[in-house]
Amino acid sequence: MTELPPFRNEPVLELRRASERQKLLDGLAWLDERLPIRAPVWIGDERRDGDELLSTDPGNPDRLVARAPRATPDEVDAAIELAHRRRREWAAVPARERAAILVRAAAWMRDRRAKLAAMAMRECGKPWAEADADICEAIDFLEFYARGAIALERGPQLFQVPGERNEMRYAPRGVVAVIAPWNFPVAIPTGMVAAGLATGNTVILKPAEQAPGCGFLVVEALREAGVPPSAIGLLQGEGDVGERLVKDPRVATIAFTGSSPVGLSIVREAAEVPIGQLHLKRTVIEMGGKNCVIVDGDADLDDTVPAVVRSAFDYAGQKCSAASRIMVHEAIADAFLERLAGAVAVLQVGHAETFGTEVPAVIEREAQERVARYAEQAAAAGRVVARREPVPGDGWFCPPTVVADLPADTPVLREEVFGPLLTVERVRDVDEALDRIDALPFALTGGLFSRNPAVVDHVIARTPVGNLYVNRGITGAMVGRQPFGGNRLSGTGTKAGGPGYLLQFVEPRVVTENTMRHGLVV
Ligand SMILES: NC(=O)c1ccc[n+]([C@@H]2O[C@H](COP(=O)([O-])OP(=O)(O)OC[C@H]3O[C@@H](n4cnc5c(N)ncnc54)[C@H](O)[C@@H]3O)[C@@H](O)[C@H]2O)c1
Repeated sequence: MTELPPFRNEPVLELRRASERQKLLDGLAWLDERLPIRAPVWIGDERRDGDELLSTDPGNPDRLVARAPRATPDEVDAAIELAHRRRREWAAVPARERAAILVRAAAWMRDRRAKLAAMAMRECGKPWAEADADICEAIDFLEFYARGAIALERGPQLFQVPGERNEMRYAPRGVVAVIAPWNFPVAIPTGMVAAGLATGNTVILKPAEQAPGCGFLVVEALREAGVPPSAIGLLQGEGDVGERLVKDPRVATIAFTGSSPVGLSIVREAAEVPIGQLHLKRTVIEMGGKNCVIVDGDADLDDTVPAVVRSAFDYAGQKCSAASRIMVHEAIADAFLERLAGAVAVLQVGHAETFGTEVPAVIEREAQERVARYAEQAAAAGRVVARREPVPGDGWFCPPTVVADLPADTPVLREEVFGPLLTVERVRDVDEALDRIDALPFALTGGLFSRNPAVVDHVIARTPVGNLYVNRGITGAMVGRQPFGGNRLSGTGTKAGGPGYLLQFVEPRVVTENTMRHGLVV
């Protein structure tokens, strides 16, 4: 195989061009003719379809997008058994060959980009630009981890002395269970699965129950590219299927992205060592956030307001990185709030398929109810500064809302809402904002708007978050450029799309050989 060219991010579509928009519409026409798609449980060469899980279009819940079966306990067992029994075959494939297969999966996705974006748009209500970026990120993960696995196989340089040869290499850990969320329905499962496969592990994917169709396409891409059926399984289902995977003694690594309560339960469960389990389970856990943006007194509001609005309301605030709390210096708070309210009043709320939509429906009825509950609590305890109404009535829409002057102890300021609800607090200075951030259990993303380099340095030094963005929006991390993931109760700090990520999927082995031979045995 020839050398892979250096990694570069897949460029997103320029949707101001009619020709680019047309590509997506063609992809949508292709998909809509086939809806609902069948998203199977897929173990080895066995595929089973079913109707127990139905994913629907969040903006139009009457539209059925995918039908999937719920994996039975026997199927979970069979998937693990196959991945475990055949794990050494995939592990024996040299990293270069595994990388070539992942790069082919990236090419498969690139060739079908519009169709995949259409699937993410329909199944998870992602507006076009977001859906396109989701597919680009999936392609990036495949390309990035492919290169990373080749580099990892070379191993680090160790100190050598005469008469001794020292070598450190990284071996696959075994079966990886990947448990994925719905909000990046192609990118996140692809990333976690690609990391496991690139490093020579067999992988079982359990996509979110809201996105079985997208999960199926991820596995299809990998199998079409040449990943053997025994190395990648697909189990559709809800939390109980994930739980079975987590508990099984044959699973060596659990890669999870999702909410904090589920992530914490997985960490607890994985710490158990049942009889017969010969290893400690490794957990790679990415969880929720309560992402704060500090706006200092000298911030340029022309930059700050649009960046804050995009960070809080794009994709209806359903990115794990989305802004949810703004802490603004009291000297400019009134001007900031006035301009923020003006910007929220003109947000494009609508169906994901309409180009230009910024705020689509949220994923499901439960989410709509949750956001409404928090919005009511916030309105009762504080002052509603903006509420963009009316919103379409035919899907799970929530009016984008900004609330200020909330008391410090309200749950809205501590819990993850995961919807289009933004709170704004006045602070005396940056240190007061930093103290409030420091008191939070979450530490995923954060932002700062300031024109003073000393303040920027100070905030960098004191902020615990995994990804801090200065004078820009706080979403849209790019593979290789902004390794992504949270600290504290937001995650294990493992940084998807970063240089150390693959180390979570391998175990280090050091070999020391005495090279002072005493004759040859023939
Ligand atoms: N930190 C990050 O990188 C990141 C990225 C995306 C999303 N998120 C977070 O994900 C959440 C939204 O996603 P979600 O609603 O799909 O999260 P979720 O926790 O409800 O579900 C995630 C996955 O876990 C499974 N699951 C549920 N209960 C389980 C259990 N007991 N054992 C094993 N698996 C179980 C679900 O079926 C799903 O596949 C938000 O909290 C968001 O902040 C974090």
